[in-house]
Amino acid sequence: MITVLGATGNVGSQVVRELRATGTPVRAVARTIGRIDGAEPWPGDMGDTAFLRRAFDGADAAFVLLPLDATTPGYAASQARLGSSVVTALREAGVPRVVALSSLGAEVPGGPDLSVTGYLGSLHEQEARLATLDARVTAVRPGMFLESFLQAAEAMRAHGVHADSIDPHVALPMVATRDVGRAAAAALLAPSAPGIVEVPGPADRTVPEVVAALGPALGLPDLSYVRLPDAEMEQVLQQAGMPADTARLHVAMNRAFNAGRVRAHDPRGDATGTLTVEEWAAGVAS
Ligand SMILES: NC(=O)c1ccc[n+]([C@@H]2O[C@H](COP(=O)([O-])OP(=O)(O)OC[C@H]3O[C@@H](n4cnc5c(N)ncnc54)[C@H](OP(=O)(O)O)[C@@H]3O)[C@@H](O)[C@H]2O)c1
Repeated sequence: MITVLGATGNVGSQVVRELRATGTPVRAVARTIGRIDGAEPWPGDMGDTAFLRRAFDGADAAFVLLPLDATTPGYAASQARLGSSVVTALREAGVPRVVALSSLGAEVPGGPDLSVTGYLGSLHEQEARLATLDARVTAVRPGMFLESFLQAAEAMRAHGVHADSIDPHVALPMVATRDVGRAAAAALLAPSAPGIVEVPGPADRTVPEVVAALGPALGLPDLSYVRLPDAEMEQVLQQAGMPADTARLHVAMNRAFNAGRVRAHDPRGDATGTLTVEEWAAGVAS
């Protein structure tokens, strides 16, 4: 039996789908979760260590992640609290095999106030916590999720542009979460897997290229990309309701992208992911 955290999310839902397809028994964890064919729903909060320990009890393996809630103030503290809860519960339940969703760039220490890589600094800290377990741990390190662009769809519709602080000429590892889930499920089912699995997507792509593919799919054929100055981007995010610390971390992460700090280290291998930006956008359109 495999316990899957974040089972209704972008990646976790794909992990559940892949495991169910192989007939593997699954416990599917999220705060709100209904019936899933072939999986046991386990509703609960991963900040509740006793609940998580029960969800992990008897599991042969677990898929774990740190949910990113950009609307919660105190991002770093909240990530540390959830991350510690997950690792304590894994340790107490004695789960022997763990596959953790992380990110490219998680190998870089976050520095003071996570100023070096923004959000990704919390994943660096979580990988360090997981390394203290007496378990076989694989960190799945994907590139930027293509689905993350959909979070801005409402603003794109309202303003006719996509605004961010990533330099337009910077090509980044971009990957569909379908491919991330597949790589994580493959690692869970493999008799042995490396400690790090990079999932950078089939090719590095720029933000304007993604916007050019996504615009028509959203019915916005003229959608263009606007690179805002860092300070202005922070303000825009705060005006949209993001707490100040989270807006600062978003822009810090973008600075790390612009500086080339978030990149794949291994040549693209088996786990790289195959869905191109254009194929993914066609799926959004349909
Ligand atoms: N966006 C990117 O480009 C990118 C790139 C690389 C890595 N990542 C990493 O990927 C992770 C996010 O993965 P994702 O996009 O698959 O997540 P997601 O779609 O946001 O889903 C989060 C899942 O976790 C559950 N959840 C949230 N808070 C919970 C809590 N307190 N207790 C129990 N369950 C909870 C949610 O369900 P409920 O709300 O019902 O609980 C949902 O199932 C983050 O760690 C992020 O840093 C993201």
